Amino acid sequence: ITVNEGSSVTLMCLAFGRPEPTVTWRHLSGKGQGFVSEDEYLEITGITREQSGEYECSAVNDVAVPDVRKVKVTVNYPPYISNAKNTGASVGQKGILQCEASAVPVAEFQWFKEDTRLANGLEGVRIESKGRLSTLTFFNVSEKDYGNYTCVATNKLGNTNASIILYGPGAVHDGGNAATRAAAGLCLWATLLARLLLDF
Ligand SMILES: *[C@@H]1O[C@H](CO)[C@@H](O)[C@H](O)[C@H]1NC(C)=O
Ligand SMILES: *[C@@H]1O[C@H](CO)[C@@H](O)[C@H](O)[C@H]1NC(C)=O
Ligand SMILES: *[C@@H]1O[C@H](CO)[C@@H](O)[C@H](O)[C@H]1NC(C)=O
Repeated sequence: ITVNEGSSVTLMCLAFGRPEPTVTWRHLSGKGQGFVSEDEYLEITGITREQSGEYECSAVNDVAVPDVRKVKVTVNYPPYISNAKNTGASVGQKGILQCEASAVPVAEFQWFKEDTRLANGLEGVRIESKGRLSTLTFFNVSEKDYGNYTCVATNKLGNTNASIILYGPGAVHDGGNAATRAAAGLCLWATLLARLLLDF
């Protein structure tokens, strides 16, 4: 069965036998593979993406080996962009922007520069999307390629987007981390302090 994240699901396993069989449910793809129900019914309210996967119902009495059936539960959820990093490339080189999104069903990708949608066959770029990953390749980067790109990931449950900068050598970009910025700040303070001390 396929359901959207957040919905409620009831799995039912009816078994007959004499003596009356005991029915249990296990989540095979779950961590620990523990029993999730010791009953014919398995009720999941507000299902999450982690609860997707195979569930196994097992009916046991003392007469023979357990009878087992499996159900695959697919949980749909809207795209979530997990990776979109600013990337540097020099003029005349190849440049590659990457955008990674998890989604069920798998996301479709679109790329924009400002309001313009980019497409394959357009002056020296290629867009390739496969599974979670979409790449925008510039075969021969020129000055006009530098700038702010938007990757949009869409499936039937929604869409999300991320901005990715293609920057040139020596450009100031947002790739720095807080630690270097903090270090730069400290340095500035040290310089100011030293000057103050000298002034006295
Ligand atoms: C890249 O583009 C520049 C200018 O448009 C051109 O002179 C150069 O030959 C191109 N390089 C390649 C490898 O196509
Ligand atoms: C890139 O564009 C997005 C929206 O178009 C904006 O939110 C973001 O601040 C821009 N990034 C930079 C570094 O200009
Ligand atoms: C990106 O997402 C924001 C916020 O959800 C939205 O306002 C904007 O229109 C989106 N941009 C594109 C290009 O889809």
